[in-house]
Amino acid sequence: MANEIIITIDGTSSTGKSTLAKRIAKKLGYIYIDSGAMYRALTYYAISNNLISKDFIDKKALINDLSKLEIDFRKISLNDNLEIHLNGFPVESKIRSLKVSDLVSQLAAINEVRTHMVKIQHSLGKNKGVVMDGRDIGTVVFPNAELKFFLEASAKLRAERRFNELKITDKGVSYGEVFDNINLRDTQDMNRSNSPLKKAPDAVLINTENMNLEEVENEILNHISIALPNSL
Ligand code: DC
Repeated sequence: MANEIIITIDGTSSTGKSTLAKRIAKKLGYIYIDSGAMYRALTYYAISNNLISKDFIDKKALINDLSKLEIDFRKISLNDNLEIHLNGFPVESKIRSLKVSDLVSQLAAINEVRTHMVKIQHSLGKNKGVVMDGRDIGTVVFPNAELKFFLEASAKLRAERRFNELKITDKGVSYGEVFDNINLRDTQDMNRSNSPLKKAPDAVLINTENMNLEEVENEILNHISIALPNSL
């Protein structure tokens, strides 16, 4: 539709960005793109092919493989959201592990990786009507997006939320490991030289510390109804 826009939701990990972006996209009839899933899918590929581990990264091979990889989003069934695929296979269930989380920010700091991902993200947003979440969507990927949000909360609260999700699928995971991972990724994501995590000057800042998901969603929806009257 002619008046569709781009909505960006950036912020630190486990602030609820993906859940909110998914809900907002559904309400608006937009597509939802989880840009973090793209970096995670590449990390999963790198782990599976022994290109990365805690103290090793084969940057050259990884960069060389980038152009051969197919990282895209496809519908699995008619009513579903788009899901991340790697070389034609759905990998959502493989990319949320702590192992992937521990290595992803290292890989996301590589210039060639970012250039490649941003190119794909641009093509996904070219027709607008998209809600995209990540770290640099409002600052670098779509600096002219019509509506931008930046979510933040303390590392303690985010680790608690993430741990409660992860422990369902990964019985061996501890709260301490999740807390350390959140802090490590915050540091790596905020301090990399290429596209560091930061709030775009024109993004709406929402501190979700004392808010539940519905309250954050309502605040975002309020901004949307002002920017896009009659859209909801
Ligand atoms: O959103 P997430 O936690 O699934 O993202 C995983 C990692 O990917 C995150 O720690 C940093 C990186 N990332 C990024 O560098 N840029 C983005 N736009 C999205 C994610």
